[in-house]
Amino acid sequence: MSGPKAYYVTTPIYYVNDKPHIGHAYTTLACDVLARFKRLDGFDVKFLTGTDEHGQKVEKSAAAAGVAPKDFTDRVSQNFRDLAAFMGYTNDDFIRTTEERHYRSVQALWNKLVEKDEIYLGSYAGWYAVRDEAFFAESELTTRPDGKKIAPSGAEVEWVEEPSYFFRLSQWGDRLLAFYDANPDFILPPSRRNEVMSFVKGGLQDLSVSRTSFKWGIPVPGDDAHIMYVWLDALTNYITAVGYPDDKSDSYRRYWPADLHMVGKDIVRFHAVYWPAFLMAAGLEPPKRVFAHGWWTNEGQKISKSLGNVIDPVKLVETYGLDPVRYFLLREVPFGNDGDFSHKAMIGRLNGDLANDLGNLAQRSLSMIAKNCGGAMPEAGPLTDEDKALLDDAGRLLGDVRSRLDVQAFHEALDRIWLVVRAANAYVDRQAPWALRKTDPARMATVLSVLAETVRNLALILQPFMPTSMGRMLDQLAAPTSARTFASFGPDHATAAGTPLPKPEGIFPRFVEEEAGKGDS
Ligand code: MSP
Repeated sequence: MSGPKAYYVTTPIYYVNDKPHIGHAYTTLACDVLARFKRLDGFDVKFLTGTDEHGQKVEKSAAAAGVAPKDFTDRVSQNFRDLAAFMGYTNDDFIRTTEERHYRSVQALWNKLVEKDEIYLGSYAGWYAVRDEAFFAESELTTRPDGKKIAPSGAEVEWVEEPSYFFRLSQWGDRLLAFYDANPDFILPPSRRNEVMSFVKGGLQDLSVSRTSFKWGIPVPGDDAHIMYVWLDALTNYITAVGYPDDKSDSYRRYWPADLHMVGKDIVRFHAVYWPAFLMAAGLEPPKRVFAHGWWTNEGQKISKSLGNVIDPVKLVETYGLDPVRYFLLREVPFGNDGDFSHKAMIGRLNGDLANDLGNLAQRSLSMIAKNCGGAMPEAGPLTDEDKALLDDAGRLLGDVRSRLDVQAFHEALDRIWLVVRAANAYVDRQAPWALRKTDPARMATVLSVLAETVRNLALILQPFMPTSMGRMLDQLAAPTSARTFASFGPDHATAAGTPLPKPEGIFPRFVEEEAGKGDS
């Protein structure tokens, strides 16, 4: 296939029994940054998100709200679309499992599995947690003081006995292990890979993939009494969106296998065990990577509806601004680890990294140009070793950031970028261009042009993280919109001397503590 290289990245599809919260915003944000980066880096990107709308939990939530399941999911699914627009996410598609294209896809996958003798009819008895949409072994349960049995997540379980179709997962253990061995980066970070591998080595049992105890789902072809297991239904969204069951379509051949399924650590088993097993069993290729990120706590506490400490991403953005929130979430915690949200840490990053380091670098460089160079890009004279060192350091950013993002190490990418921000601030202090104005204006012009070029490269590479503010920074540097991809990275694409620059304005105001909205903590 010709044309730019494809890059397909997906978020989990979100349950519609809940309001979007920081966890949802976080997973999609990470994908958005990757999607934007890859687009600027010349890839043909497909970025998918959506909603997971079937299952007993949704059926129960709809009944509790007194509406039909479809009306209920229409309403809640819209909240997730609204969040995506509000957060500036650039998803190319939004899939809903209640769509016709998805019914067709899931039923085709089912038929394929039946045709390959990977599914059989049996009966199921076991402990089922509606909240987790999962079965548990007796040994995984604990008993509450009131005698109720509880899953590890804290969800109540009930004893369920019903006829069920089974997927022959028990036959796939060795092939999965061979697949993990052949693809050491299939599951990242490595701690999750180890966890998954020991789960598979512990032995897999056949998986119950249909239910007769509720109605809200996709019926099993040819046996309407059965509704498909919600995870089989949900996982299939990733191929529906690229055109399955038409696996000869341009779109399927172009984008499948997906480059990355981004997920939270709680759902890694579904994505790294069941999903590749379903796909291989159907004769389809497994995805290239599953990355499991960690969970946020709020000021040291587990986030939960019952504790009333759910972080609303909309409030957060209203308080601190969209780009600072995007920056904070990916900078504060090594991606893959759990992290703690606190207003103090958020304000620290906003005032320290953004206002003092990056904002101040841009602001002082550009206002010196405005004041001392007639508001136009200064002309560089001969470069000193120090000038070259800074420009080279900035020039290496693209390769360095690309390689960090290729393993989803957002925090390392930002760390690397801030080395240049700090080096540039130290350079300004040492060169003291304000003092050169009288003594050596030609040298001052060189220093300011080195700074302008450094800031331009910083703004280019930071666009995926902070698209709006970096867009403004590039406006202030008179970078034409056609020169904002990574093809324009590096000294060969510097803004020409003499180009008039607009009046500079601060981009990251310092945050004064009293303004902090405490309502969302
Ligand atoms: N519907 C399934 C996914 C099916 S994908 C084929 C699901 N949905 S979910 O809405 O419950 O969760 C979506 C994502 O939010 C998960 O990746 C989960 O890890 C993430 N988070 C939920 N709470 C979170 C935090 N407190 N912190 C970070 N992410 C968290 O699971």
